[in-house]
Amino acid sequence: MARKNTTARVLKAGAPKSSANTKSRSNTMWGGRYKLGPAEIMERINASIGFDRRLYAQDIAGSLAHADMLVAQGILTAKDGRAIRRGLIQVRGEIESGRFKFSTKLEDIHFNVEARLTELIGAAGGRLHTARSRNDQVALDVRLWVRDTIDRLEPMLADLQAALIDRAEEYAATIMPGFTHLQTAQPITFGHHLLAYVEMFGRDRGRLADCRARLNESPLGAAALAGSPHPIDPRKTAKALDFDRPMANSLDAVSDRDYVVEFIAAASLAAVHLSRLSEEIVIWCSAPFRFIALSDAFTTGSSIMPQKRNPDAAELTRGKTGRIVGAFVALCTMLKGLPLTYGKDMQEDKEPLFDAADSLELGVAAMAGMVRDLKANPERMRAVASADYSVATDLADWLVREIDLPFRQAHHVTGALVGKAADKGIDLDRLSLAEMQAVEPRINRGVYRVLTVEASVKARKSLGGTAPANVVRAVKEARRRFLGRSR
Ligand code: ARG
Repeated sequence: MARKNTTARVLKAGAPKSSANTKSRSNTMWGGRYKLGPAEIMERINASIGFDRRLYAQDIAGSLAHADMLVAQGILTAKDGRAIRRGLIQVRGEIESGRFKFSTKLEDIHFNVEARLTELIGAAGGRLHTARSRNDQVALDVRLWVRDTIDRLEPMLADLQAALIDRAEEYAATIMPGFTHLQTAQPITFGHHLLAYVEMFGRDRGRLADCRARLNESPLGAAALAGSPHPIDPRKTAKALDFDRPMANSLDAVSDRDYVVEFIAAASLAAVHLSRLSEEIVIWCSAPFRFIALSDAFTTGSSIMPQKRNPDAAELTRGKTGRIVGAFVALCTMLKGLPLTYGKDMQEDKEPLFDAADSLELGVAAMAGMVRDLKANPERMRAVASADYSVATDLADWLVREIDLPFRQAHHVTGALVGKAADKGIDLDRLSLAEMQAVEPRINRGVYRVLTVEASVKARKSLGGTAPANVVRAVKEARRRFLGRSR
């Protein structure tokens, strides 16, 4: 059906007769006092339908709950209520099947749905907006959308944790160099390293859960900003939409976008974690490292260099962090100067929000894929872990334990031994006992036992330490804590 007819019908059903008769081109939804339509550029800057159509399901769910409440409160007749319900369900079907014709003239998703509803069911469609404004409507839609998105992200993050935990179990005893300053520090286990990210993503899930708990109040009933003179029951709509309660203050209800900021803040930190792991994957895949390899499924070739295998998924996950953190800055900047209550500025929350959520979902899924795909190179990891005097701390700890040197002195002695070995271009365990005793006479043969990377990681069984036995236990614990299962 052509839009012209649509507009005409809406005018007939919803708008005052006079405007229909004068064939005004002013807005059919609010143009009662308008003689002329908007300038082309006004229409263009004003319209959000290009992106807020993504809110259609939430918009219709909210309208269904609102209409039911209006009927229950005797504000609408049951007959109108039934027509509205039937109409809204049809509109949803049209949108989902791709038959719906979105109109820029109708600005946004709220007007697009309402106009089509009125076209379908007549005057009753125009009654749906009783005791409601687009201000509480959009606040509701975005809240529901963020809630739905968190509910989708939550199991995705859990799945990423599951992937990391499985690989940690597999590599519980695989030795790699642990770095500080990206300089070899001490030997660690690859499983332990992977479990560090399980903790980070666990906190991300916690932050999203906090955000969800705080956002779960319904703004419906605030209407434009001041509440409604109709005998509405905001508790009813809140309950129908699975909110914990209606919001306490109508001004806050329409002006609050904390939940968008909180969501994007939590998303930013999750993205930062994904980015750090991505960066490690990029480094580990590089030729000088060769700690891991990604398969054909998670790399791309170069158009000119046939030998290349690029970790693009990791790079893109790392790169998308900028968009997500950018969304956080955009949102805070958009809100910071807004007086209460609603300002059209707030329409600018959607594109950054949608983009941040999409980017994060992609990144989480890609990371879970990469984690499941990667193959470690234990020989290479062990070789690098053994180099560069990574067991020097073990030697110092031995001096503390066995000959009771104060740690600071043990550090000094070890430093001298490392210097000696470095001068000769050999590892610490290649120094003869005599060479060691020249620095500290009380050193005995027992010292050689602690100078292997295996002994080093095995000894670190303090709580949260890297010992393989710890990792095996930590894997079990992580499954219980984060995945709610024992195996
Ligand atoms: N499209 C608008 C938005 O996204 C809906 C709310 C418009 N409200 C208004 N009073 N103009 O914010």
